[in-house]
Amino acid sequence: MSVFRDSRAGAGQRASRAWEASVPRLVVLTDRGAMKPAAAGHVLLCCLCLAFAYLCCAHRLWRSGDQEWQKLIMVHHWPATVCKEVENDCRNPPDYWTIHGLWPDKAEECNRSWHFHLEEIKDLLQDMKIYWPDVIHSSANRSSFWKHEWQKHGTCAAQLDALNSQKKYFGKGLDLYKGLALNSMLQKLGIIPSGNYYQIADIKDALAGLYGVIPKIQCLLPKQGEEVQTIGQIELCFTKDLQLRNCTEPGKPGKPVAVGQGAQPAGAAMNLQVCEDGPVFYPPPQETNR
Ligand SMILES: *[C@@H]1O[C@H](CO)[C@@H](O)[C@H](O)[C@H]1NC(C)=O
Ligand SMILES: *[C@@H]1O[C@H](CO)[C@@H](O)[C@H](O)[C@H]1NC(C)=O
Ligand SMILES: *[C@@H]1O[C@H](CO)[C@@H](O)[C@H](O)[C@H]1NC(C)=O
Repeated sequence: MSVFRDSRAGAGQRASRAWEASVPRLVVLTDRGAMKPAAAGHVLLCCLCLAFAYLCCAHRLWRSGDQEWQKLIMVHHWPATVCKEVENDCRNPPDYWTIHGLWPDKAEECNRSWHFHLEEIKDLLQDMKIYWPDVIHSSANRSSFWKHEWQKHGTCAAQLDALNSQKKYFGKGLDLYKGLALNSMLQKLGIIPSGNYYQIADIKDALAGLYGVIPKIQCLLPKQGEEVQTIGQIELCFTKDLQLRNCTEPGKPGKPVAVGQGAQPAGAAMNLQVCEDGPVFYPPPQETNR
C-alpha cells in the first residue's frame, strides 16, 4: 500500500518537475523577448496552443461536471397538498394532479441568458392554465411559475433537440403529462382521495405495474397532530429519448435515488421527501381548501 502511494507521489513529483522545467522558458520569453525570431515564434505558438487547449478543456470539464444529466423527471403534484404545505389560502385548487415540472436530474439553470417569453408559448396557454397551473398563486395570467420552471429546468432540458425551445419544452411537458394520464390511471386503480389511508407500497406497486417502471413518490411529513404522511408528488422518469424508465438508478432496485437533497431539483422549496413505507393520506381537495 505504502509502496503504491510512494510510487504515485514520485510520478506526481516527476510530472510537476517536468512542468516547472517548461515554465521558466516561457517567463524568459516574456521578460526579455530576446530570442531568435523563429524560436520565439515557435514557443509563442506552442504557448497559445496550450492556453487554448487548457481553456477548452476547462470549459468542457465545467459543463460535464455541473450540467450533465441522465433522466427527465415528470413531476406531478397534488394541489391540495401543495396548498396545505405552503399554508396558503389557495382559491379553488384543481382537484386533479397537475404538472409541477419536467426536470432534468442533476442540472439547474443551464443558461441564465435564455429568458422566458410568454409569447413563445401562447398557443399552449389554454392547456398550460389547466394542466400546469400555478397552484399557489392563482391570479389570472400570472406566468412567473412558468418562467421559474423554464429558467431552472427548461434551460437544461433544452440540451435535447426535442426540447430546445420554450414551445417544445412546455409542449412536450404537456404531451408527456397527457400520455401518462396519471389522473385516470389512479382512478382506474381505485386510488382516489380519501379519509382512509393507503399504503405507500400499494400505490407504488400499482403504478409500477401499470407503467412498467418504478415511480418516485414524495410526501409531506406529518404535521403536529397528524398521524401520517401526506402524498404530495408523483414522479415518473424518462430517458433522454423520452422513453419511460425507472426513477431508481440501475443496480439499486427498489431504492429511490438518493438525490432527494442537493442534486435533485429541489422540490421548489417544498418540504417534500421520499415517502416512508407505511400509511399515507391522499387528501380530498375540500379537506384543505379553505
Ligand atoms: C443561451 O441562450 C441564448 C439565448 O437563447 C443563446 O443565444 C446561447 O447560445 C445560449 N448559450 C448556451 C451556452 O447554450
Ligand atoms: C389574461 O389574458 C387574456 C388574453 O391575453 C386577456 O384577454 C385577459 O383580459 C387577461 N386577464 C387578466 C386578468 O389580465
Ligand atoms: C426497473 O426496475 C425493475 C425492478 O427493480 C427491474 O426489474 C427492471 O429491470 C428495471 N428496468 C430498467 C430498464 O432498468
